[in-house]
Amino acid sequence: MRSVDKMEDIKLIKTIEENLHAAKEAGIEFNPDGLGEKWESQVPQESRRFINSDFTLREDVIRNFRGQTVFIYDWPCAKPGFMTILRRLIDGNWRGRYKVLRGRLKLLKDYNCADLLKKYPSSTVGNPNLFSYKGYKYTWRWTRHIYLLWLFKQVLEKRLSSDFVSMDIGSSYGVFSNLLKKEFPKSHHVLVDFPEQLVLAHYFLGKEFPEAKIASMKEIRGAGRINREFIRKYDFVLLPWMYYEKTQPKSLDLLTNFSSFGEMSKKYFDYYLRNEPFKSTPYFFTCNRFHSHSTYKNDISVLDYPLSEFSKLHFDIFPVISERYRRHGILFYKFFPYPSQCFEFIGVRKPLEKKGEL
Ligand SMILES: C[S@@+](CC[C@H](N)C(=O)[O-])C[C@H]1O[C@@H](n2cnc3c(N)ncnc32)[C@H](O)[C@@H]1O
Repeated sequence: MRSVDKMEDIKLIKTIEENLHAAKEAGIEFNPDGLGEKWESQVPQESRRFINSDFTLREDVIRNFRGQTVFIYDWPCAKPGFMTILRRLIDGNWRGRYKVLRGRLKLLKDYNCADLLKKYPSSTVGNPNLFSYKGYKYTWRWTRHIYLLWLFKQVLEKRLSSDFVSMDIGSSYGVFSNLLKKEFPKSHHVLVDFPEQLVLAHYFLGKEFPEAKIASMKEIRGAGRINREFIRKYDFVLLPWMYYEKTQPKSLDLLTNFSSFGEMSKKYFDYYLRNEPFKSTPYFFTCNRFHSHSTYKNDISVLDYPLSEFSKLHFDIFPVISERYRRHGILFYKFFPYPSQCFEFIGVRKPLEKKGEL
């Protein structure tokens, strides 16, 4: 890293630490109960990897958080080197993974969205180990978001003004908001997740958009009200989940959630989908499992989503996730299906559409 970049990096990490302290002072609950089986164990376990008990950050981990797959999974996640090459050639599990990665490019080409991948190759922030193939650089997760950006452009681009306000719930470190912001520079983004995940989002977006205005705990605490006017002052607002219900009605144009509602406990699922700001948001774009019971105990299925509140603009089976392979013997692999197919839905809220308010 050049020394100027290193200074900027240290400054960004200091800012994030200040915001963590602000969160602590605001009495934010860091590991609440009832998150659902996956996140209840993952949040404390993963947070300890990069947040010290005195709320300072482990800079070595933050700088490499994608390479070390902190919090969320991605492929390829092994460091390049002799052993990786060997495993890639021999181990059925690994050969299967790389087959999936090659298949992803084919799929993006089939949907005519490989151009978007060319335009937005995977970011190198967080030091991920990228897959280089036929002139493209990507990871498994990155291609998913390229496809979602493409779908957004197909269905929503012409319906929203260029300075739209969007909220992504379960944003993790912000791949989707990052891509939307790159494609629509005047847009504004609220990322909702656990405060610990938002630390990674702050680092990722701070590096991707050094000039961006990012609101984190300090600004949120000082805001009084979280409304459209507040959000529009920033490029990104990093909103810990407990501030979701404090967001005023009619603050958003679009609400998104990808691979996340289906993993939550029913308590949190309802918290988001039965309250404001969701209730007054005109557009909803989601991609989640048809049912969760094959992996989770929350008993959530597509039938629980309030899709009937919307006129359908798009509904289909998500094509990106279904291909997986598992080691068969040592050298071979065989296909096994993802535990549940996922649906993709984009809708416009019915009463608003009828009243001609859009
Ligand atoms: C599988 S990851 C998906 C991340 C991202 N949406 C994507 O598609 O790459 C699920 C995300 O949901 C978040 N999440 C889980 N339960 C949540 C809750 N109750 N409130 C907010 N975010 C939650 C996790 O922290 C994680 O970022």
